[in-house]
Amino acid sequence: MTESAPTNLPPTIGNADYRDSGLQFPADFTFGSATASYQIEGAFDEDGRGPSIWDTFSKTPGKVLNGDTGDVADDHYHRLEEDLDLMASLNLQAYRFSIAWPRIQPTGRGPANQAGLDFYGRLIDGLIARGIKPVATLYHWDLPQALEDEGGWMSRSTALAFADYARIVGDAFGDRVHTWTTMNEPWCSAYLGYGSGAHAPGIMSAEGALKAVHHLNLAHGLAVLALREVVTNDPQFSITLNLHSIRGAGPTGAEAARQVSALANRAFTGPLLKGAYPEDLLDDTKDVTDWSFVEPGDLVTINQPIDVLGVNYYSTVTVQVWDGVSPRENADGHQNVGGSPWPGADRIEFLVQPGPYTEMGWNIDPSGLLDLLVSLRDEFPDQALMITENGAAFADTVTDGAVHDVERTDYLRRHITAAHRAIEAGVDLRGYFVWSLMDNFEWSLGYSKRFGIVRVDYDTLERLPKDSAHWYAALAGTNTIPA
Ligand code: NOJ
Repeated sequence: MTESAPTNLPPTIGNADYRDSGLQFPADFTFGSATASYQIEGAFDEDGRGPSIWDTFSKTPGKVLNGDTGDVADDHYHRLEEDLDLMASLNLQAYRFSIAWPRIQPTGRGPANQAGLDFYGRLIDGLIARGIKPVATLYHWDLPQALEDEGGWMSRSTALAFADYARIVGDAFGDRVHTWTTMNEPWCSAYLGYGSGAHAPGIMSAEGALKAVHHLNLAHGLAVLALREVVTNDPQFSITLNLHSIRGAGPTGAEAARQVSALANRAFTGPLLKGAYPEDLLDDTKDVTDWSFVEPGDLVTINQPIDVLGVNYYSTVTVQVWDGVSPRENADGHQNVGGSPWPGADRIEFLVQPGPYTEMGWNIDPSGLLDLLVSLRDEFPDQALMITENGAAFADTVTDGAVHDVERTDYLRRHITAAHRAIEAGVDLRGYFVWSLMDNFEWSLGYSKRFGIVRVDYDTLERLPKDSAHWYAALAGTNTIPA
């Protein structure tokens, strides 16, 4: 193991503990990149695609910065071959993408739209032809609008419809997909979509958010069952959660951390991995709901064995019980819920984290990733893990045809070093996916934040690998952290 820090890094970023090079990952450890359909595809009304809640939301004035929409996005739908070649040129071993439900079933129900299936067939075949493992996410937030009109994730019928959709997609690609991920970050779909309203469909209802939590969990279980019936290869099954790396501050920190972990983490890991909602969660939320939307048998359905748990990690949160006096900050709507109708938000204060920060305002702290992975190993010793997203937005500039994104490379180096530390500590960690392959539509922040290792020029739609992409290609080509 090399402990000396590389010398080409800016001295101001972070501490040296996680800044390593020369560390080697196991030969079967997978390095890939991730994207999501609405964030990159564009072609919003082509080949029979129906409207999703993000089409509606982004076209509602005031909901997305600068009025940006995913109508064109990165135009990936029309540039598929170019993007596949780009992935191959970066030595990607796997590619995590999402399937847009409204391309497959324009209204969320009924027969498959063949043109939609054809697009993902070309994507999957193109990946396999290039030796890149397809990691398919069934739901990365683009719910068919027609289902939202019937209550969306607040309604049980959406979970039932999701199982039909999973079966259609499993029938079509169940001989070729390496890893199936049912949901991406159901925390965001539930609490930002139906709690704070910061994401589509923009509803603000504490009970609605908890109903959504349950119906997303149920949809996961039903989808795994449906997929298992139709797949013919031997795929991995997974779900991706944005589990919070939580620290408590001061004398009330432990109690605040307990409450936040119940709502943010254990509301998902409880039913998914243990077959029960945590008692303290039910108790904490008893003024909001009696949870009678949980029907007999649901918890058995949800508690399907999964091969790998996907973890998305960006930064940490530090909490204490709100004293009613100290200022509440950090209401960025993503890593915290300050000021939202998220149940319990009124009782918890999210403290401003020490820097440095990314362009999102999120603190950079790779120790939070190591802590999270080790704590998951301690709680679920038999559960294999995978980092399905990690990355950073920075204000990139193009200089002489290049993007020297030193800060992003440093962020990746430090978090990948933390991932290696986790493996050294005995965590069964199987892979790492950088968010994102290319700059894209960052939800309510539109195109203002660039997470890609490849730059997208939104005027010409040209792709330009940043320095971080070259660095990542060297990593993915050798499984060794480059200098
Ligand atoms: C979480 C989401 O899965 C992804 O869609 C988003 O762009 C990134 N993290 C960054 O916020």
